[in-house]
Amino acid sequence: MRVIIRPTYEEMSKEAALLVKDRMMKKRDFVLGLATGSTPLGLYKELIRMHKEEGLSFKNVKTFNLDEYYGLEPTHPQSYRYFMDTNLFNHIDIEKANTHVPDGKAEDVEKFCQWYEEEIKKAGGIDLQVLGIGGDGHIGFNEPGSSFNSRTRLVALDEQTIKDNSRFFEKIEDVPRFAITMGVGTILEAREIILLANGKKKARPVAQFIEGPITSLVTASALQLHPKVTVFLDEEAASELKRIDYYKFVEEAEKKINKKLF
Ligand code: PGA
Repeated sequence: MRVIIRPTYEEMSKEAALLVKDRMMKKRDFVLGLATGSTPLGLYKELIRMHKEEGLSFKNVKTFNLDEYYGLEPTHPQSYRYFMDTNLFNHIDIEKANTHVPDGKAEDVEKFCQWYEEEIKKAGGIDLQVLGIGGDGHIGFNEPGSSFNSRTRLVALDEQTIKDNSRFFEKIEDVPRFAITMGVGTILEAREIILLANGKKKARPVAQFIEGPITSLVTASALQLHPKVTVFLDEEAASELKRIDYYKFVEEAEKKINKKLF
């Protein structure tokens, strides 16, 4: 796992955007896995800037989002479809038909989840998956205890997640109790993964998933099993890591030989 630490959220977001751009430029028909939440907003802002000022095109890109609240219409201001449209898709040259967010109103959920998995396969698999991390160490909505073999499915949200996400809703009772999420197994099949985290509140889950044991109680720790993961952190989110000096040393060493590990 490469761990990249930057002093601020803005610098962390820009660094992550450079990696996304680099990978997009290297492959035609790129398949990008996307996340919602506060964390990737800076990354999306930078990608929009790169599109407007540097000609970064999403014309041939397909996207698959990690998750969606169950029961919310795509037009609901707190739905993840709405989030993606307003914070990224409406500002770049992507074909809306090439963007996929799980359908929170799917009637036959099981069938829908199977279809979602098949669409990812049909697209050729995810080239690069963007992740955030929950206060409880989740990736997607894979709450503590989720199997590392789990696939796209309906899940019940953890109390901590409901509390964390209530900041976006008028009252905590309005937060949906269920969601559709890609599974840990689905996420691990992406060819490359980046995880972003910022702020003091993420320091503990970040230290747990990078330096702690691999356990389904911290689903992000499954990333230790993946061969190509880069973690982008600001100083606050990195503050409980024990091996910060080593991560910084590796980055310096990469610069000296003018080559990235990947
Ligand atoms: P956040 O959510 O980016 O809003 O902190 C992250 C997550 O729950 O995965």
